[in-house]
Amino acid sequence: MLGGTSFVGRYLVEAALAEGHTVTLFTRGRTNLDLFPQCERLVGDRIGNISALEGRRWDAVADTTGFHPDVVARSNGVLAGRIGFYLFVSTISVYADYGRQGVDEDSPVARLDNDALIARRDTGAYGPLKARCEEVAEEAFPGRTLIVRCGLIVGPHDNVKRFTYWPRRVAIGGEVLAPGKRRRMIQVIDVRDLADWMSSMISRQRPGIFNATGARSTMGELLEQSKAISRSDASFTWCSDDFLVENRVKPQTELPLWSPLRPGQDGHYGIANERAIAEGMTFRGLATTVRDTLAWVGDAPAHTVGQGGPVGLSPEREAELLDAWQRRS
Ligand SMILES: NC(=O)c1ccc[n+]([C@@H]2O[C@H](COP(=O)([O-])OP(=O)(O)OC[C@H]3O[C@@H](n4cnc5c(N)ncnc54)[C@H](OP(=O)(O)O)[C@@H]3O)[C@@H](O)[C@H]2O)c1
Repeated sequence: MLGGTSFVGRYLVEAALAEGHTVTLFTRGRTNLDLFPQCERLVGDRIGNISALEGRRWDAVADTTGFHPDVVARSNGVLAGRIGFYLFVSTISVYADYGRQGVDEDSPVARLDNDALIARRDTGAYGPLKARCEEVAEEAFPGRTLIVRCGLIVGPHDNVKRFTYWPRRVAIGGEVLAPGKRRRMIQVIDVRDLADWMSSMISRQRPGIFNATGARSTMGELLEQSKAISRSDASFTWCSDDFLVENRVKPQTELPLWSPLRPGQDGHYGIANERAIAEGMTFRGLATTVRDTLAWVGDAPAHTVGQGGPVGLSPEREAELLDAWQRRS
């Protein structure tokens, strides 16, 4: 496992151990060192010293930490001829337009023609860089590579924390600023459903490209379920896209799972997941994810800092916006 100690990798290790596999972890040795004492730990750095991978053989390698094609190519060079199967954890951000409905695995991916961006490891180029990583992986292990394009991954230990904002904010209660329309479509995948499925795909050595997103739901359902599960007194004030844009609310960060919709759009998450379902992916249901996320996050404030930066509205900012909305209405 190239990774395996934070979120996706952590649950993938759990799933692989539950299936009876022996797991080796390769990380920098900084995070959650108490996890998985039964696993061998190799210490190195994907973008630095990977010598700990040299001379070893594995039936399969799961790569949760590949973000740059050069980095993936380098480890693949060391692993070439020594592994049976390769899983690359990718993202729906590889698609040129993942905002439209029904994006499937054959939809066009975003290309990076700009060598300067590649050289600079520009994080703004996350999707196209991941797309290039996918190609690098397939070139190294043709016919033995499983590429999993994940949608927003949620649940306990979510290090991005965007989804987590909503159940926690609703649980705190009071008047909650809700984005756009109640029926706006959302689509997330519980990390445990993702991990169990990826582990089974590795066990069955099933290559190919798969979208990994959950069942479609709505923003209204997410908030109502969060309210029911947390038994809070939350009330929801749905503010229009126009109002949020006028007030410079930052999409996805200040209001996670929200971006202004283009005309005719129902939501930003309409990714086709039938291919993965045909290969056995199942979903435990949004209510379970909300309940377990709330149990994990405890009494933490709703607005916080996740792996990608600040998340959610501070209580002051939310109150200001609600006040402005009332005055406008
Ligand atoms: N979250 C989402 O919604 C979402 C959506 C789509 C796709 N994805 C993809 O899912 C993956 C998420 O990864 P995760 O953080 O959950 O994975 P993880 O395997 O649980 O954790 C990553 C671990 O890898 C180690 N690591 C980080 N940088 C490293 C480096 N340079 N060299 C060696 N080890 C390193 C870190 O441990 P140490 O600190 O000990 O090194 C970290 O704890 C990513 O590939 C992302 O693109 C996520």
